[in-house]
Amino acid sequence: MITVAYFSCLFVAGTALAGKPGRGLQAENKGELNGMDKKVLIPRERIRERVQELGRQISGDYRGKEPVLIGILNGVVFFFAELVMAMSIPLRMDFIKASSYGPCMESSGRIRMLKDVCLPVKDQDLILVEDIVDTGLTLQFILENLRAREPASIKICALIDKKERREKPIYLDYCGFTVEQGFLVGYGLDFNEQYRYLPDICVVE
Ligand code: IMP
Ligand code: MG
Repeated sequence: MITVAYFSCLFVAGTALAGKPGRGLQAENKGELNGMDKKVLIPRERIRERVQELGRQISGDYRGKEPVLIGILNGVVFFFAELVMAMSIPLRMDFIKASSYGPCMESSGRIRMLKDVCLPVKDQDLILVEDIVDTGLTLQFILENLRAREPASIKICALIDKKERREKPIYLDYCGFTVEQGFLVGYGLDFNEQYRYLPDICVVE
């Protein structure tokens, strides 16, 4: 059985965007859910606040433009929905799906495109929206693929920047939280397709 627990993660809120210091987030034991111990690392309310900040910031940066936000499925679903609703400019939405993870916590390094965008990309201002960046291999693959189609610009917005296993130097234009290590679940993030539905972000031990 999986235990979702605190895993000595260090969070620094919004380093890539707002430059805000971390608020000393500590895992909090919320009791048992579906037979597992649940300790929350980033509570729902803190996520909501941070996503509102990101939405305001991106709206300011893209004032007068109409960016295409491209969500990277599946983990991004809640973050994407909350982010676009926090924005105050016209935008269009599309989704892309690539797969690098097998049924475990390690990136396989072999990336496949499972679903492409439907909207045109050429000459558009793209914002790639990702749930969590780990090795950076997935984003690197998607970036190269999209750049070849000559968009006007591409920026990246990730909810979580997980730094420990980074293999590709990816610059995140907008970042919700930074974490050093640990496997996270909840708020769209899964372990073997489980726990995506949790409203808080937790750590798998
Ligand atoms: P990367 O290619 O190693 O950067 O992995 C990126 C993808 O792996 C993310 O979009 C997630 O879907 C998944 N992933 C990486 N770390 C985690 C994690 O801690 N929890 C859940 N999914 C993760
Ligand atoms: Mg993802």
